[in-house]
Amino acid sequence: MPKAKKPKILVMNGPNLNMLGTREPHLYGSDTLEAINSQIRALAVELGLGVEFFQSNSQGALVDKIQQAHGAFAGIVINPAAYTHTSVAIRDALAFFGGPVVEVHLSNIHRREDFRSISYVSGIAAGVVAGLGKHGYFAALRFLAATLSQNKA
Ligand code: DQA
Repeated sequence: MPKAKKPKILVMNGPNLNMLGTREPHLYGSDTLEAINSQIRALAVELGLGVEFFQSNSQGALVDKIQQAHGAFAGIVINPAAYTHTSVAIRDALAFFGGPVVEVHLSNIHRREDFRSISYVSGIAAGVVAGLGKHGYFAALRFLAATLSQNKA
């Protein structure tokens, strides 16, 4: 029997998250994005998922990548960073994507400045993980693995 194709997950990070490790480590931890991504990759192997990573500081590049993900990826894990609180364009692109989207924040956005409690993305997300640091990405991946295998059965 031919091997079933692995569902592919796109893991996206928005502006300033390329500076993880040195950027406000008391809020965001001391791991670099590369270090977190390699841990996500290891977990994806364990869960039988394919994974691709994309980070950009630019809203348009994030929107372009989400548009391209339509039909090409089974789910998206996204930390939209500051665009969480401002971007109707990213929300609309994610709604167009159509598959399950999990919104992740390293910090607990509800314990911080008031403006961070507003998310344009949460309304179209399957779920939101905030405040668990890098473990939020791992939880999101586990959720998608469980959801996608349920849909297949
Ligand atoms: C963040 C929270 C946002 O408010 C902030 O702009 C970020 C990171 C987080 O992961 O906690 O850049 O999304």
